[in-house]
Amino acid sequence: MPQPDVTVIVLAAGAGTRMRSATPKVMHPLAGRPLVWHALAAAAGIAPTHLVAVLGHGRDQVTEFLAGADDLPAVITTVQEQQLGTGHAAACGLRALPTAPEGIVLVTYGDVPLLRTETLQLLVDGHRSSGNAVTVLTAHVTDPTGYGRIIRDADGTVTSIVEHRDADDRQREITEINSGIYVFDAAVLTEALPRVGTSNSQGEQYLTDVVSLASGDGHRVGAQLADDAVETEGVNDRTQLAALARVLNDRIVRRHQLAGVTILDPISTWIDADITIGADSVLEPGVQLKAGTSIGQDCRIGPDSTLNGCTLGDDVTITRSHCIDARIGDGADVGPFAYLRPQTVLHHGAHVGAHVEIKKSTIGPGAKVPHLTYLGDAEVGAGSNIGAGVITANYDGVHKFPTVIGEHVFVGTNSTLVAPVTLADGSYVAAGSTVTQDVAAGDLAVARGRQHDSRGWVLRRRADSRYADAARRAGAGNGAQQPAGQPDGADDKDSPA
Ligand code: UD1
Ligand code: CA
Repeated sequence: MPQPDVTVIVLAAGAGTRMRSATPKVMHPLAGRPLVWHALAAAAGIAPTHLVAVLGHGRDQVTEFLAGADDLPAVITTVQEQQLGTGHAAACGLRALPTAPEGIVLVTYGDVPLLRTETLQLLVDGHRSSGNAVTVLTAHVTDPTGYGRIIRDADGTVTSIVEHRDADDRQREITEINSGIYVFDAAVLTEALPRVGTSNSQGEQYLTDVVSLASGDGHRVGAQLADDAVETEGVNDRTQLAALARVLNDRIVRRHQLAGVTILDPISTWIDADITIGADSVLEPGVQLKAGTSIGQDCRIGPDSTLNGCTLGDDVTITRSHCIDARIGDGADVGPFAYLRPQTVLHHGAHVGAHVEIKKSTIGPGAKVPHLTYLGDAEVGAGSNIGAGVITANYDGVHKFPTVIGEHVFVGTNSTLVAPVTLADGSYVAAGSTVTQDVAAGDLAVARGRQHDSRGWVLRRRADSRYADAARRAGAGNGAQQPAGQPDGADDKDSPA
């Protein structure tokens, strides 16, 4: 239910030069989402009538992102062609509204990602109950360098905000800083903005000047102190990006822990913003859960595993594996050292073991792919067993082809299945086969050279070697312990492969 008289303007036009990046600052990700998503999601949480984003640098990338962000409400975007200052940016935001704003206008920044909806709502509520015309969210910080300082008169009333570079020595000692987040009475803001000048060290139109203008007009200006200053911190460079990522991760980890997830090592466990994890699941050290992942109950993930866009049922075990856009059913287990690529589906109870790579394939209930296998574009039916080292040859250099393996099929080790090919239900493939033709239900396919042994070859051709010695110790040459093979001397020209 939108609050009928609240407009939010998110300022996000700045260049972000200190990121030294081709990516616009507000598109840098934190917990799997661009900075601007965090800012907009927090603002959306208070259900404003209008949510406006003022864009400039990198606006095409931001606009494209917003067009596809279906977890955000409609955002009105507007472009501030030249970044003439925060006051100018706020004016651009107001101009983008379909009608003149009524009630209150909340201004926030696109590069302040940890601000919570609860904090914004408290600011709005405080503004309303105090009768302020302007309420500034402030914070006490140990190093206020670079921030605007909150200037109060003798009885503590806020009268102005002075930017660090415009402040005198005494003002610079003030440790209460302007977060850049404010609530304004719409009428006061609309009336003051055109009067904001540029006589400051940067020659910019400062939104902060609205504070002294409103105060000078006899309006009440108040400050609300943030409980946790980190919520008001912006990202200007990549050290701050990493520092805030750490804080946000701690917050996310804690939320899951309180919801019943065991997280053995919060420091090495990184969880994106929108992940769901069922109760009694355990995350071991070194786990990364990336955007779009959901995990059921009683799962065990890790150590050292990455799940990206994966959906897991209950009782799933993932050990030291990397999985992208895979669906993994109840009771399935994966790894160690498995690589599940997009469109892999493991049905319940499926087993994928060590050094197995699977792409765009479905593994049926209870089917096993235990060791050293590549399956691409394949379908494996219930209960089938794929032997160690089996490879689907799904690609001829131009096209990809499917491999269809029915139910309860046994594929012997180190076989190559040359697609397109079908192994019908209950068929067998002998170890080491190269299968190029379909195998019918119940048949055994043997597709490899027949073994033939050259009787006594080692004794004749490697007579003075340790191989011959070993063979003689084992009884070779006395005609007794030899398996059936070629008669003596028949194959002397054969060489080992
Ligand atoms: C601003 C405040 C300062 C406050 C600090 C908190 C002013 C004059 N100063 O300073 O009091 O302590 O934030 O971080 O407001 N932006 C635009 N268009 C512009 C200029 C800025 O969209 O023309 C956006 C930026 O993208 C950024 C935000 O506004 O998200 C703040 O701009 P920035 O230049 O970082 O302001 P500060 O100098 O940090
Ligand atoms: Ca800044």
